[in-house]
Amino acid sequence: MNKIFLSLAIALGMAATTLHAEEAKVNFEAKCASCHGKEGKGDTIMGKKYGARDLTDLKLQATRKDEDSFKAIKEGIKKDDKFIMRPFAEKLTDAEIKALVAYTRGLAK
Ligand code: HEC
Repeated sequence: MNKIFLSLAIALGMAATTLHAEEAKVNFEAKCASCHGKEGKGDTIMGKKYGARDLTDLKLQATRKDEDSFKAIKEGIKKDDKFIMRPFAEKLTDAEIKALVAYTRGLAK
């Protein structure tokens, strides 16, 4: 009985993770890809205009903590008092932002 419960819990857990990843992909492509590009390389017109760096760069990723990225997505990034990435606090829930942080981490190869 316990074993069945355990495998059920694991299966549900995996389904939830996949769902988050799927959701994050949809969110990323809808809300972030305009600047960061579908692959996260930042090679879009908007990305170049605002100076988005290559999110797939492992060296760059290593300098960022999950908390930094979470805060950046939630509160935005400012340069010279202007938003170069606007805050998503009102558009995304904390859970969605967390899933996006994980998603952007996964973009690095
Ligand atoms: C208007 C253009 C724009 C949009 C839209 C945008 N970003 Fe950014 N983003 C930037 C710029 C510019 C930077 C700063 C330079 C850099 O670090 O690449 C940045 C930085 C980042 C970073 C690295 C900063 C860190 O602290 O780790 C992450 C992660 C990120 N953005 C994720 C997202 C996600 C997720 C979305 C969608 C919800 C998004 N961005 C939407 C322009 C944008």
